Amino acid sequence: MATNVDDEEYDRVKEVKKFDESKIGVKGLVDSGITTIPRFFVHPPDVLSQLKPGSKIRPDLVIPTIDLSGVDSHHNRSLIVDQIRQACSSFGFFQIINHGVPLGVLDRMIESIKGFHEEPTEIKARFYTRGVGLGSIGVSYVSNVDLYNSKAASWKDTLRIKLGSKMADHDQIPEICRNEVIEWDREIKRLGEVLSGLMCEGLGVETWRLKEMTCLEDTTMLGHYYPKCPQPDLTVGLAYHTDPDVFTVLLQDNVGGLQVKYGEYWVDVKPVPGALIINVGDLLQIISNEVYKSGEHRVLANSSHEPRVSIAVFFNAGNKDDLYGPLPELISSEKPALYRQFTMTDFRTRFSKREVDGFLSNYYKL
Ligand code: OGA
Ligand code: NI
Repeated sequence: MATNVDDEEYDRVKEVKKFDESKIGVKGLVDSGITTIPRFFVHPPDVLSQLKPGSKIRPDLVIPTIDLSGVDSHHNRSLIVDQIRQACSSFGFFQIINHGVPLGVLDRMIESIKGFHEEPTEIKARFYTRGVGLGSIGVSYVSNVDLYNSKAASWKDTLRIKLGSKMADHDQIPEICRNEVIEWDREIKRLGEVLSGLMCEGLGVETWRLKEMTCLEDTTMLGHYYPKCPQPDLTVGLAYHTDPDVFTVLLQDNVGGLQVKYGEYWVDVKPVPGALIINVGDLLQIISNEVYKSGEHRVLANSSHEPRVSIAVFFNAGNKDDLYGPLPELISSEKPALYRQFTMTDFRTRFSKREVDGFLSNYYKL
C-alpha cells in the first residue's frame, strides 16, 4: 500500500516498465483475459468527465465530405478548392471520396495492418522498440509511443513505418503487410501531391508552393490497433492532440471513435465507406499564418467487440535546416506574421521532448 506521493510515483513507473518490457501491448492484455485495466491507463477525472456520453458532443455536426471527382477540370476544381478552404479554416478536418485510391487497396491495407497486430506476440516483439534514435529506425512496433512521458496511457498499439524520403528497407517491413505498405506508399504519395496543390490554391498561393518547400518529402505511417477496452469510460484510445506535421491522411475502418474539437464541442468523425480523412497539422497552421487550423482531435477507447484499425500517414518537411514560418505571400500590415521562423530540426527536437497532448504551435507564437 502506497503511503505517500513518492511511493505512488515509484509504483507507477515500475508497473509501466513491466508492461513495456513484456512487449505484449494492450492486445496482449486483452488476450490475457483481464476485465479491469491496469491503473496506469486510467485518465485523470477532468479528462474522463469530458468523455461522458452527452457531454459537449454535437451530434448534429459533421465534418465535410468532399468529392474529388473531376479535380482536374476547371469548373470542379474551383468548387473543390472552395470546400477545402472552408474545411481547413473551420474544423481543420475533412473526408474525401472519389480520391482515386481503389477500394481494394483501402481494404487490403486495413486487413494487413490488422493481421500484423493479430500475429503472435513473439513475432510482433521482434519489432518492439522505443526511445532515442527512433527517427532513424525504419520499422517499429510499440504500445503508446509516449508511454513514459504521458500522464496516463492509452488503449492502443502502433506499428510505425518510415515511408519517405528514405523508406524502410522492404525486407524490414513485416511480411504480413509488406506488399500492402509498399502499395500504400505509392498511392498516398500521389494523393498527397493532389491535396497539397488544392490546399495551396485554397490559400491563394502557387499550387506547388508546399511541394517546393519539400513539405511532401518526409512521410511516416502509423498503423494503429485499438482492441476492445474492458473499461472504456476510464481511459482513451488516443489523447487529445494536434498533429505535428503539415497534413495527415488517415484511413479508418468502420468501427468509429475519432472525434474532432470544434469550439467547445466534440464532433464524431463517422466512418464513411471508401473515404479518407485529411487533417491540417501544426506546420500548415503556422505556414498558412492561421488561415488554416490544426484540427484538435482524440480517439475514444474502443467499446465495440470489433478491434478498431486506423492508418495515419504524416507529411512533413524534408529539408531540416531551411527556415519555416508563415508564407510571405500571406503576411501584410493588416495581417502580420503570427509565428516566428524555425528549422525542422528545432521543431522535431521540441516534439520529441513533449507529451503527445501538448500544442507545439504555441511555442513559436509571436
Ligand atoms: C494520429 C491520430 C487517429 C486515429 O495517429 O495522430 O490522430 O483515428 N490517429 O487513429
Ligand atoms: Ni492525430
